[in-house]
This record gives sequence, C-alpha cells and structure tokens, in this order.
Amino acid sequence: MIHEKLDKFKDGFLWGSASAAYQVEGAYDEDGKGPSIWDEFSEIPGKTYKNTNGKIAVDFYHRFKEDVALMKEMGLKAYRFSISWSRIYPKGRGEVNEKGLEFYDKLIDELIANDIKPIITIYHWDLPKALQDLYGGWESREIIDDFNNYCITLYKRYGDRVKYWVTMNEQNVFMLLGYKLGIHPPGVMDEKRMLKANHIASLANAKAIESFRKCVSNGMIGPSFALTPNYAHTCKPEDILARENAEDINCHWWLDVYCFGHYPSYAYSTYEKRGTAPEIEDGDLELLERGKPDFIGINYYRSETVEKNPLDGIGNFEKINTSGKKGTSEDYGMPGLFKTIKNPYLERTNWDWEIDPTGLRIGIRRLNSRYRLPILVTENGLGEFDKVEPGDIINDDYRINYIRDHILACKQSITDGVELLGYCTWSFTDLLSWLNGYRKRYGFVYVDRDEEGLRTLRRIKKKSFYWYKKVIETNGEEL
Ligand code: BG6
Repeated sequence: MIHEKLDKFKDGFLWGSASAAYQVEGAYDEDGKGPSIWDEFSEIPGKTYKNTNGKIAVDFYHRFKEDVALMKEMGLKAYRFSISWSRIYPKGRGEVNEKGLEFYDKLIDELIANDIKPIITIYHWDLPKALQDLYGGWESREIIDDFNNYCITLYKRYGDRVKYWVTMNEQNVFMLLGYKLGIHPPGVMDEKRMLKANHIASLANAKAIESFRKCVSNGMIGPSFALTPNYAHTCKPEDILARENAEDINCHWWLDVYCFGHYPSYAYSTYEKRGTAPEIEDGDLELLERGKPDFIGINYYRSETVEKNPLDGIGNFEKINTSGKKGTSEDYGMPGLFKTIKNPYLERTNWDWEIDPTGLRIGIRRLNSRYRLPILVTENGLGEFDKVEPGDIINDDYRINYIRDHILACKQSITDGVELLGYCTWSFTDLLSWLNGYRKRYGFVYVDRDEEGLRTLRRIKKKSFYWYKKVIETNGEEL
C-alpha cells in the first residue's frame, strides 16, 4: 500500500526504550543476588568478546536514579527492563530475597514518579545457575513450576503498579544460541535437546500467562519474539517454497504455539522425520490453549533472504560476526529446506545485519494478519561504533537515520491498519552486548567504559538523544 497521507500515532502511544538486567545492572553478587548462568558462562575464557562480563556492566544498579532522570529529561513514556530471577530467588526457588524485590520496587516507583510506564520483562536469559545445576534448567519440566512461582511473586509485588509485562525475551534466540549453536549457555549443540527445552519453555510461558490472569487485573502480557522476516531470493517457485519453510521453522514454530496453542504442521512433520520433534504430553496442548498472550512483542533488527537448499546443500550453523568487521558472517541453511543468501538491495551494519525498515512493516503485517493481536515493538535499534569528539559531542546520525526509518515503517503499518501499542528502542544507555562486548553501542546515552576498562562510567548524551526527545514531544510527527 502506498498511502497519500499517514495516520498519526494515537495518544498514549508508548515511546519507549529497553534494556536487560544482565546487560546494565552489574552488582552481580550484591544484596543477596545468586549467580546466573551468564555469570558462570562469561567466566569461561573465549566465550564472550574479549571475555567481557556483566559483573559491573554500566552500573545501573547503583545509578538508576541518574538514568531515570535522563529518561525524564528526554520525555520517555515507557521503559522496558528485565528482572534478574536470581536477585529475587538466589537459588531460583525456595527463599525469596527481599532486598532483590526492594531494588525493583525502587526502580518502578522512580519511573512512575517521572511519568514513565514500566514494562517488565520477566526473563531475559539470566537463568539462576542453581536451577541449571539442579535439573538442567529448561530441559526439565520442573522449571515450569519454578518459573510460575517466580512470576507469581512478581505479579503480587508489582502488579498494582505495572500494566505491561513481557514473559520471555526472544525464546527463539536463547534456545537456538544456547542449545543448537552452543554459543550461549548452556553451550549445547543438539537439535533434539533444543526442541525439548523449547517446548518446556513454551509451557512455562503459557503457565505464566495463565497465572497472570488470576493475579493482575487490567494488565497485558505477552512474549517478545526476535522477528526476522524471510524473503525469497527470486520468484522461482523453489525459492518461494524455501521462504515458506524458513518462516515455518524460524517464526511460526514459536508464534503459532504462543498464539494458536499448537505447532505449525509442516515444520513439526519435518522435525518428526529428523527424529527431533518434541514430545507432547497429555495436558500440554490444553495448557498452551489456556495461556495465550494479549499482545505480541517483537524485537526487530533485520530481515533475512533465503533460497532453495538441496539435500546435499549447506547445513552449517550461522556464523555470527562478533568482531564488527563487515563481511565476516557466513550464510547458513538446513539441507532440503532453505539457505540464507545476502540481499543485494540492502546495506549492512558493521556486524553484518541487513538494514531493512520495510522489513519491519512486512513483519508487523504478517503477524497482524496471522494472529490478529496488538503488537508492541519491544526492541529496535542500531549497534555501531560511536566516537566521542571534543566537548562531549557524539554525532550518531547513522543511528538517527536507522531509527527514523523504522519509526516511519511503524507509522505506515498503523496506516495499513495494525494496532501498535508502542515502540521501544534498544537501548536507552549503552550496555553490554552478550557476545560483542561494549563497543557495539546502541544507546541514546553514551557510557564511558569499554571492554579494556571501566573508566568513569560517565553518561554522555548523544545527538540521537535530542532527536528522539523531539520525536516524543511531537508524538512522532517530527521525524
Ligand atoms: C536482542 C536481545 O536479541 O538483541 C538483546 O534481546 C540484545 O539483549 C540485542 O542485546 C542486540 O543484540 P547484540 O548481539 O547486538 O547485542
């Protein structure tokens, strides 16, 4: 659709920004917090870029008031942050840590006092290490009750003040990277184990939503999904089929389960033939049916283009560029299903992510047509090197351009007829990138630290800070 005039963002649109506990908080062992699997994993040499870890991160735990004051200055309407499970339950279950609960009480109250709506992510990858050690984390059905108990604790404590809740961040990513590619904890490379753990996580997600309905009135809850819409390389029917396969395997595999309560049939039968399909036990489908979300959260950074992949075609896993050297990622595929190929029409970031604002619109529309649920953009942003010039100037025009084009895509989607609840950038301040250290920067606010040293941790507003302030002030009219 080409529109003559674009609709306005509705009043109350959530102009936000997002982060995750491990990536910003630091204070990894303070006030009773237990270790998470990321605290452990980042200690293994070579697992993260220059062995970076979140022990101090950008020290949000101690500096949150200063950061919230900057959010207020910007006029931010919503802040999405995650809660560290092992701060609340140091061992994942058992005794609750009151000091952990108090930290998030203070953060929530500070946000509300500054007219910023909190959006809580319950789980953003930092599983308590104790549960990994005890029963293998997501590979055991025991986690369903432990996760539910943790959720209920949060609902009871914060449900009176927090309306928007995200159950899990990018289940598709933490499962693929943790259990198939082996580059996130627990470092497993096994499709069958991945699909089993993933099924259990979907059940935990549904149970958490079911409990939410009993504990929180007038709230909305949904998962955040890493959305990478697939394009066909050519209009050859074989390439179109490859695209269908990729959408089923990489997207519907999760979203159909969340929103319909069952797996996409072609993908399920593919995994059955490979001998890796998850076992569905009595009661599973009923639970999935009861735990459907109110909205779909999407984290969007890029699209992906695929083509036919013969049975003897490439089967290697995605080689991710974690160095910031353009051109160092490699294509991957599943033989007989699809393989990726560079899109000649799109520019790439230094980390080889294809920049594609129209892909956001396409993705939003595909989801809206298939699932008919409101959508919340829970993450979108550009990771780049930033340079501080004399006088504390950071001219990040590349970030402004990226975010502007994606906001425009949101506006076009709204005009197309999609219900969009809000748009959160990734991220407000610079933070730790799981595998890429500190120099792949995403924030509106620069943090004076890198992987070599802590330096001052001083906050410096980038040019994009002032630009997004204006966007919010004009409710997206001035881009
Ligand atoms: C999303 C995650 O996948 O992308 C964030 O939810 C992450 O936690 C962000 O930081 C950007 O990814 P990266 O690898 O560039 O840090």
